[in-house]
Amino acid sequence: MRNLLVAGGAGFIGSNFVHYLLERYADYTLVVFDKLTYAGRIENLERARSNPRFHFIQGDICDMAAVREAVQRYDIDTIINFAAETHVDRSIMTPDAVVSTNINGTWVLLEVARELKLARFHQISTDEVYGAIPAPGRSKEGDPLEPRSPYSASKAGAEHLVYAYFITYGLPVTTTRGSNNIGPFHYPEKAVPLFTTNAIDNLPLPIYGDGLQMRDYQYVLDHCEGIDLVLHNGALGEVYNVGTEVETANIEMAHKILDLLGKPHSLIEHVVDRAGHDRRYALDCAKLRALGWRSQHSFDAALERTVRWFVDNESWWRPIKSGEYLEYYRKQYEERG
Ligand code: NAD
Ligand code: TYD
Repeated sequence: MRNLLVAGGAGFIGSNFVHYLLERYADYTLVVFDKLTYAGRIENLERARSNPRFHFIQGDICDMAAVREAVQRYDIDTIINFAAETHVDRSIMTPDAVVSTNINGTWVLLEVARELKLARFHQISTDEVYGAIPAPGRSKEGDPLEPRSPYSASKAGAEHLVYAYFITYGLPVTTTRGSNNIGPFHYPEKAVPLFTTNAIDNLPLPIYGDGLQMRDYQYVLDHCEGIDLVLHNGALGEVYNVGTEVETANIEMAHKILDLLGKPHSLIEHVVDRAGHDRRYALDCAKLRALGWRSQHSFDAALERTVRWFVDNESWWRPIKSGEYLEYYRKQYEERG
């Protein structure tokens, strides 16, 4: 592993992963290949841009010629695929983009990896592919995939293609299924950064339904370490769950954000629930722990670091919360009442 193409590396987790990998491996060259959709921000990669081992290409993973060109130009041996349309609510409003990018785009990357005989293809997947898991159950890697939203269905579809390329063509693949990430550069349409930035501005925190849905919120760098470990020590063709194995109800998460910011709990506003809202995700991460992995941040520590980052980096998120974002926000939340 020497020259890595990080698809979707200008997004939230991808950019954190790029900074992490550049610091950790002095001999790796990283090429970010990213379409720069509304969620892709070149400024997320500012710290990397002066590094001679970092390159950026603006491109669409659905464009096979552009992907092939990038792989050949930089003599890529490994593709890590973060590129996706990632927001469940947007996938409900307009499912077309999740199908084309998450399924077709993954197929294009696999096809180029097969054609050019790359040494590794790593797929970034999600705990949402298991579907809703009633307590006290936990999802293990061999469990059936029962996705229930257009987003999670597209991620499951992509995973099936990845596995099919391993079985059919012998492509060396690995997959990680991460739980919800929080941390720097998180686009403020997702719950934690949305609630945090709204609270800073004394705006309502829109809680879907009763707010008792459970998510395993992990710090983004813990997820990056898990991916790194699987890339280097994971078995080919295998899937690994990555999470803290501790779930928190959304309403509790919102209360904690308000407490950290010293804001009144009256900012919480219950709004109409998300269609098909999964009540709970919960991972069993024993397989990754067996490789030596440990999550470094408790939920409270992860949330505190995240909230502090948003307080300290208003210049990052304020410009985002304008234009297209406000249009999206109006459509998404006006209907919820
Ligand atoms: P994000 O929305 O912040 O970033 C996605 C990136 O992909 C953006 O930079 C965007 O420009 C790029 N992209 C989108 N379509 C593209 C295309 N057609 N071609 C090239 N680039 C394209 O997402 P994220 O939260 O960083 O998630 C990254 C990956 O991790 C996704 O695959 C997601 O499914 C997975 N994941 C996310 C979470 C989470 O909590 N955020 C949890 C588990 C798994
Ligand atoms: P989100 O950050 O969109 O991640 P995901 O749906 O992929 O888990 O949402 C996290 C949880 O917060 C989820 O249960 C939906 C809920 N939620 C709200 O209650 N209000 C909101 O405005 C948003 C965006 C999410």
